[in-house]
Amino acid sequence: METDKAKRLKAEILEKVRAYYGLAHGSPPFVPGRSKVPYAGRVFGPEELVNLVDSSLDFWLTLGSYGDQFEKRMRGFFGASDFVLTNSGSTANLLAVMTLTSPQIKDPLRPGDEVITCAVGFPTTVAPLVHGGLVPVFIDAEVGTYNINPGLIEEAITDKTRAIMIAHTLGIPCDMDVITGIAKRHNLYLIEDCCDALGGTFREQKVGTFGNLATLSFYPAHQITLGEGGGLVVNRGGILPKTARSIRDWGRDCWCPTGVSNTCGKRFDWELGGLPKGYDHKYIYSNIGYNFKPTDLQAAIGMAQIERIGDFVEKRRRNFETLYQGLAPFSDRLILPVRDKRANPSWFGFPVTVTNSVSKNDLVQHLEGAGIETRSIFGGNLIRQPAYQKIRARVPRETPEADRIMRDTFFIGVYPGLTEEMIAYVLETFRRFFGAPQRGTGCQEKQKVIS
Ligand SMILES: Cc1ncc(COP(=O)(O)O)c(C=O)c1O
Repeated sequence: METDKAKRLKAEILEKVRAYYGLAHGSPPFVPGRSKVPYAGRVFGPEELVNLVDSSLDFWLTLGSYGDQFEKRMRGFFGASDFVLTNSGSTANLLAVMTLTSPQIKDPLRPGDEVITCAVGFPTTVAPLVHGGLVPVFIDAEVGTYNINPGLIEEAITDKTRAIMIAHTLGIPCDMDVITGIAKRHNLYLIEDCCDALGGTFREQKVGTFGNLATLSFYPAHQITLGEGGGLVVNRGGILPKTARSIRDWGRDCWCPTGVSNTCGKRFDWELGGLPKGYDHKYIYSNIGYNFKPTDLQAAIGMAQIERIGDFVEKRRRNFETLYQGLAPFSDRLILPVRDKRANPSWFGFPVTVTNSVSKNDLVQHLEGAGIETRSIFGGNLIRQPAYQKIRARVPRETPEADRIMRDTFFIGVYPGLTEEMIAYVLETFRRFFGAPQRGTGCQEKQKVIS
């Protein structure tokens, strides 16, 4: 019970936290060539620190009131049946697959069922399929969108195909006209991995609202961060939300929030499975589950971050646009991202694929040498990864584009922490590499293009 004196002290502490933010978390001046240009990072204001300290003073620790508020806010954001907070995007993916394999749902996925996925991506889009005894069917990706090639999906479907699990890689929405059409025609579950894509739309509909389930990551590289964290968007009602929550919370049948008992009013009156009648409902498990919950401290940060999502996405789009315009003169040597009129991406990064005339290694080293961070498109062609070479999977046809992406593609940052000065420096550094005239100097450097 918080006394008036404690309340006043807390208000004073939080005021000091606000002041501390101003003193301790300002941006250092950018020094071209010396400062880093990160590919991603946390962007936060005093509100995140205030919420975090507020939550720490409560010392509730496990998911509580901030968790409830954040889940409600995210349900509203997506207009979803439910939003289930998890401790990472990877566990959100695992939770999505486990939910669809639960015997509680009407027509669960079963071991041996095939799931269409993309050969290029982050490994934990696919790992839950492997652990669930499902068979990933790897479809080639496309240079330019770095997503699954929508034209190759239908021919890969067999009578064993039960689901599609795809990521909107780098925040670029997949072709949801084709994908939802196929899912409907073949009666397939659809899971959208939106870990890189929060805030993006396709035909003005939010990504994450097309499938049965969708997942998010709140790791610092993503559109908003909770430090570690993720979540499952449940777009269908019925048993799905209850099953997902049960699996996230140890598999329990009981749905009481932490610290609460007897929500059902018959805690000692249930008779389920082979248990004796009246066995404590708190310890009845109707699913094979785990504990995938984050702490309330993380949710507290999330409550401040989600308020910024509109600005963050806007800034990512502006940064993308400046980079796109600045790199357009090199489009004979670099393949720039494909812009689909139906899609409004929430860019995760700015992908670039080199053509034969350019050495990716030279370009990447030139950028990194200048302090500009670069990243590969995650695991590249996952089929080539050591851990994925011996799994039970199907590859209906060759995956040359995925191989090309693995070989020739990298991405740089567009995140809201980048300033105009940093982006101008990134473009100057590209120009230097290509021996193009520098803005304002007109000087020409040795061309690094291999002819
Ligand atoms: C497409 C995709 N899915 C899943 C994940 C995993 O998210 P987390 O790092 O929160 O586990 C990532 C991570 O960046 C990702 O890019």
